[in-house]
Amino acid sequence: MSINKEVKRITTNTLMMMKQAGEKISMLTAYDYSFARIIDSAGIDVILVGDSASNVMAGHETTLPITLDQMIYHASSVIRGVQRCLVVVDLPFGTYQSNSEIALASAVRIMKETGAHAIKLEGGEEAIESIKKIVSAGIPVMGHLGLTPQSIYKFGTYAVRAKEETEAEKLKADAKLLEEAGCFATVLEKIPAQLAKEVTESLHMPVIGIGAGKYCDGQVLVMHDMLGINTEFKPKFLRQYLNIFDQATEAVKSYVNDVKTNDFPNEKEQY
Ligand code: KIV
Repeated sequence: MSINKEVKRITTNTLMMMKQAGEKISMLTAYDYSFARIIDSAGIDVILVGDSASNVMAGHETTLPITLDQMIYHASSVIRGVQRCLVVVDLPFGTYQSNSEIALASAVRIMKETGAHAIKLEGGEEAIESIKKIVSAGIPVMGHLGLTPQSIYKFGTYAVRAKEETEAEKLKADAKLLEEAGCFATVLEKIPAQLAKEVTESLHMPVIGIGAGKYCDGQVLVMHDMLGINTEFKPKFLRQYLNIFDQATEAVKSYVNDVKTNDFPNEKEQY
């Protein structure tokens, strides 16, 4: 029996029940109304309005430039397309790192101005005070450990994280801290599968992996990568389900040709 199919709306509690029942959690990013409608009606559990919008929607090299106002615009568009799934919104770079009051103010803006159901932020020990503050205001928080793209200039590379013992131990400790601080779930990005398995099994809260192997409680992918809209990013962990870039290119070429040759519009396509 699928918990997803039993409930009318997916909540943070539903995700916990899914973990307990061993039912995998599906999560995808979305940034606009139309794709949110498709993804929600296809039965996804969680939509993440990721700050990857900075890359795939705005064309920036990193997630750093996107602003809180821009995230609010994307998230409120997504919410209008969703009837069932849980919607989680990334707090963008610079809107929570300085102190917990600012973090709470940013989270409150997201909740008030978008109608979303939860926020996500990156980091372990250093983010705990902010997580506690946001959770104590009644806002559900999803954590994000491993490769944390907002710290790309600190890492200097998008390579697999926590391969070394010291970093793996820190990640395990950080994951425990996130759970103790009240996170309802966490993302683990680009870490070895065995480490992700250990962390997943040690926590009560659901763990959603991206490039973290099959033992996590759920998986997340960036929609533009899995649908082949963005074709420049092909990491080993990505499964590409469509090639919209090529299909759309062919469609546009046909349209250009039809216009140039006066084939479009035809008699039936005019008033
Ligand atoms: O912004 C994003 O898309 C994310 C996922 C990669 C988890 O944080």
